[in-house]
This record gives sequence, structure tokens and C-alpha cells, in this order.
Amino acid sequence: MAENQWSTAITSVKPNEIRVRGYRLDELMGRVSFGEAVYLILRGERPGAAVGRLVEAMLVASIDHGVTPPSTLAVRNAASTGASLNACIASGALAVNRHHGGAVEDCMRLLARGAARVAAGADLAAAARALIGEEKTAGRRLPGFGHRIHTDDPRSYRLLVLAREAGTAAAHVGVAEAIVAELAAGGKALPLNVDGAIAAVLADLGFDPELANGFFILARTAGWMAQVIEERRREKPMRRIDQGAAVYDGPASRELTQG
Ligand SMILES: CC(C)(COP(=O)(O)OP(=O)(O)OC[C@H]1O[C@@H](n2cnc3c(N)ncnc32)[C@H](O)[C@@H]1OP(=O)(O)O)[C@@H](O)C(=O)NCCC(=O)NCCS
Repeated sequence: MAENQWSTAITSVKPNEIRVRGYRLDELMGRVSFGEAVYLILRGERPGAAVGRLVEAMLVASIDHGVTPPSTLAVRNAASTGASLNACIASGALAVNRHHGGAVEDCMRLLARGAARVAAGADLAAAARALIGEEKTAGRRLPGFGHRIHTDDPRSYRLLVLAREAGTAAAHVGVAEAIVAELAAGGKALPLNVDGAIAAVLADLGFDPELANGFFILARTAGWMAQVIEERRREKPMRRIDQGAAVYDGPASRELTQG
């Protein structure tokens, strides 16, 4: 064994053969969804079809949210300076933090505290009340809850439906829903935002919180690419970007069945 040898368990490469976690990449292509491939590379095993669909839905949920998110404004600002695509995307990724996009990790850790209480015998409502109280006392906002625009985030609702269909919704989803219910009962309603829903679903799937924000960045990269190209094609360099002045002029609302 060479003195400088080290090991990797992710991908093996030899001439004309690439295997990810043991599976031939060319065989995975066209057979597994990107969501399944993401699960495979991160967890080492293929998910069942339903979990693959759930991971895929998480990625679709985060693909874009118009021009107002801070990371998208960072991307647009970088694009308006003439920055390369890579630099624009990096600007967006750097703007994913605790208050935006990056609430997933903090929320996973919060929900894990709640799930531990449930495992120790507390009911969901009591666990939720304890978490709300602890965060309030510490002067922290509840990560994964609240939204500047939505009072009932449609992405969160759909993700939780898919988690139930996949049979993976467990204590973390339960605690997240209980927090929403307790806040509403206390007269200070906050919706579960998409970061919070992704956090609950990822936690019930057993993902490591350290990976959490990567899911948002992975998905939103596609949206940022569209934002960079549109900024370059439509706007003049170094413009003053007023997020409130943007008007949507894309396709009118249409149904999936319309193609
Ligand atoms: C996303 C967020 C910044 C949107 O905030 P907003 O709707 O503009 O709300 P404001 O900052 O104006 O706050 C309004 C009130 O709600 C409270 N509030 C909002 N979100 C809260 C949260 N997550 N936990 C506790 N209180 C919250 C504020 O403290 C404030 O209370 P006050 O009126 O008593 O001062 C905010 O909900 C938040 O910080 N959420 C946590 C981080 C998060 O999940 N980010 C991901 C967003 S997708």
C-alpha cells in the first residue's frame, strides 16, 4: 500500500467505466431521476421510487422564487457588473444564509430537539410549545417559519403531502405542524415556509443537517442561471435594481395538462 494512499467511497473511475456508489453511471442515466441520483450519492444507497420522487419535489420546490429573494438580487447585481456565470452563481450561493434559504439547517436542528422530546414521551403540542418558548427566551426567530409574501406557503403543503404519500413523514414533520398550530393558537400565526418543510422532510429521511443548505443551493442554481441570462439580455449594466419595480411579463398562468 502506497504511503500516501487515501480512500473514497463515492465514485470509482477506470478507463471506460464510471461507477457511483457501485452503480454504472451510464446505466443510471435515463433510468433514475436527478432526485434519486442526489439521494444515492449522498446516502450511498438508491431510494425507493416514492422517496426519489420526494427528493425530486424538494429540488423543484426551490428552483426559483422570482426576483425578490436576496440571493437572486445578489446574482442579478453580480450579472449587472459583467461578472462571469460562475461568479454570478457563486454570489447567489454566498447569499444563502440563516435568514434566507439557509434556514433549512437551523430548522432541522430545531425539529430534532422537538423529535427528541417526543421520543422521550412528550406529545407533539407540548414539544412544540417548549421549542417556541426556548427560542423566544433566547431571542431567536423560529427558523423555517414565517414568510414575507406567503401566509400559507403552497410549496410546504405539497411537500408534506408527498412525504405522507411516500410514508416518510414522522416526528419532525409532526413537530413542524405542531409549531404552526401552537403559533396560530397563540395568536401569532406563522406559516411553515419551504425551508421549514424541506427541513422536516429531510430530517424524517435521516439526512445530516450539515447537508441541508446544499439542497437549496443545488436547486436554486437553475433559477439563478435563468436570472443571469435574463439580466444580461434585458437590462443595462450597473443599473439600480429595485426589487419592488419588477413586473412579470412571462407566459400567462397555464395548467400542466395544457403542455
Ligand atoms: C422570512 C422572514 C425574514 C420574513 O419576515 P417578515 O414576514 O418580513 O416579518 P418581519 O421581520 O417584519 O416580522 C414580523 C413579526 O413576526 C415575527 N416573526 C417573523 N418571523 C418569525 C419567526 N420565524 N419566528 C419568530 N417570530 C417571527 C417578528 O419577530 C415580528 O414580530 P413583531 O411584530 O412582534 O416585531 C421571517 O419570517 C424569518 O426571519 N423567518 C425565519 C428565517 C427563515 O425561515 N427564513 C427562510 C425564509 S424562506
